[in-house]
Amino acid sequence: MGFLEERDLTDGRRLKFEIFRFNPEDSESAPHLDVFEIDEQPYMSLYIALNVIRETLDPSLMFDFACRSAICGSCGMLVNGRPALGCKTLTSALPETIRLHPLPVFKLVGDLSVDTGVWFREMVENTEAWIHAQQAFDPDGQEERMPDEVAQKIYESDRCIECGCCIAACGLANIEDGFLGAAGLNRICRFALDPRDSRDDSEWFEVVATERGVFGCIGLMACDDVCPKELPLLEHYAWLRRRALRAS
Ligand code: SF4
Ligand code: FES
Repeated sequence: MGFLEERDLTDGRRLKFEIFRFNPEDSESAPHLDVFEIDEQPYMSLYIALNVIRETLDPSLMFDFACRSAICGSCGMLVNGRPALGCKTLTSALPETIRLHPLPVFKLVGDLSVDTGVWFREMVENTEAWIHAQQAFDPDGQEERMPDEVAQKIYESDRCIECGCCIAACGLANIEDGFLGAAGLNRICRFALDPRDSRDDSEWFEVVATERGVFGCIGLMACDDVCPKELPLLEHYAWLRRRALRAS
């Protein structure tokens, strides 16, 4: 259903929000749901709805947004149990009762706000997800060209906004610390594709072909269902598996 073809927006629904509340910094705080009701507005996103709630009903409500246009990755949350971006989700696509929880797996800051940075930093450090170049940089050297199709594939992986939705949706990432999940494997793919990275198949094998990597995945593929940027995560898994087998 297209953005402008959503359900008739003039029927004036009263929306009921059930929102997870908990402040881990406050010893008096206990996890619970708070209920808020607001009037639905045309083209209302969860970002707008949460701001209405904070501005008119409860200024202490914690949630994260920055870009409001599905680019920064900060507004991931569980919307009726499914990971999604708050800024990209229209209330018109949801039932009248909307239950919001913070993304699991990540460090809870409070209410709907999580710190995805801790998880992503650990993943980047564990996989050394940066270019490993053997050649010293020569500022006077000729620019090296890269085939267009390789650049396009790298660009495809680089579209990840690190929102964490795939990790929150992953059954294994929810119970196994250190599992790289789709975001981690996508990041590995990005560097394994890059001809400037000098790591060979056997070095990648150490990173990818473990229970934390592609062979830990139990194949539920919820990551692929929820990725708001529609990255080709299944293709990336398959490519990394083939590469790991080639090196074994
Ligand atoms: Fe978000 Fe998709 Fe990147 Fe996962 S792969 S962090 S769901 S953009
Ligand atoms: Fe940036 Fe939603 S606010 S992705």
